[in-house]
Amino acid sequence: MNSATDFQGWAHARQERIETLLQTLLPAPEIAPQRLHQAMRYAVLGAGKRVRPLLAFAAGELAQADPERAAIAGAAVELIHAYSLVHDDLPCMDDDVLRRGRPTCHVEYDEATALLVGDALQSLAFQLVSEYRLAADASTQLEMVKLLAVASGSRGMAGGQAIDLDAVGKTLSVPELEFMHIHKTGALIRAAALLGARCGNGLDDKALAQVDHFAKCIGLAFQVVDDVLDAEAPTATLGKTAGKDARQGKPTYVSALGVAQSKAFAAELRNDALKALDGLGERALRLRQLADFIVLRKF
Ligand code: IPE
Ligand code: IPE
Ligand code: MG
Ligand code: MG
Ligand code: MG
Repeated sequence: MNSATDFQGWAHARQERIETLLQTLLPAPEIAPQRLHQAMRYAVLGAGKRVRPLLAFAAGELAQADPERAAIAGAAVELIHAYSLVHDDLPCMDDDVLRRGRPTCHVEYDEATALLVGDALQSLAFQLVSEYRLAADASTQLEMVKLLAVASGSRGMAGGQAIDLDAVGKTLSVPELEFMHIHKTGALIRAAALLGARCGNGLDDKALAQVDHFAKCIGLAFQVVDDVLDAEAPTATLGKTAGKDARQGKPTYVSALGVAQSKAFAAELRNDALKALDGLGERALRLRQLADFIVLRKF
């Protein structure tokens, strides 16, 4: 394998780097309040594919960003993502007991702690994007903070989660499903790529729009594949309870289109994502490889 193009090697090195960074950024377990800090570390560390940080690194490479900056941006999005998972698993939401191959945060600790873990992880994410220098000028960095806020809030992830909960037991049309998915999952994926890109100075507005379009396609593909895996993959591989969407009456791409058509749609989105990167050259290699990873993944 050519080490310059080996995706696994590239991804593994960055997953380790993010793990180490998150370990140092999260409050130490012996700092008071200890139980909250331990639960925050439990929710974030030691597992997870780290797709969002990888997207921040990959977009950062395209934009010739300092990888230290892309790492902070990626870590911030991963903290918001981890918070969204902790809350998603609560009994009042998806009521899940297994996450990343371990008991969910509220099972390992308790519901009140899990709620606070989400609150505190979200605050820590915004602390990072305001405390560390990520952009050459303050106004760009302020735009980045806003980008993350919008992607996380009621016009982004949290809004998508509200639509998801409201949709239980209902049938959604494909456009409605798309709207739900691009919010609950797509928004943070898009933010990860855009924040990584904004850490560098290497992209003009046209190239930034290309990265945005890429991330929009791949963000939707990510949740379409998550729907397929919920229906097809075993719990042991997923590290979370398989088959829950159907059992809980969640409208998904699988319930709307079936597995085969959902897979075909994910493949189509991958092609659209790759097409969005046309003309960006070799520096977009890792973004292209991430599109494949997201669509072909088994967990
Ligand atoms: C799971 O996200 C929740 C969705 C947004 C679909 P991931 O599949 O990225 O979960 P981890 O971080 O790898 O555990
Ligand atoms: C989760 O969607 C989206 C967010 C956490 C924002 P799901 O509910 O399908 O995620 P999993 O399958 O529990 O990981
Ligand atoms: Mg959910
Ligand atoms: Mg869930
Ligand atoms: Mg799911």
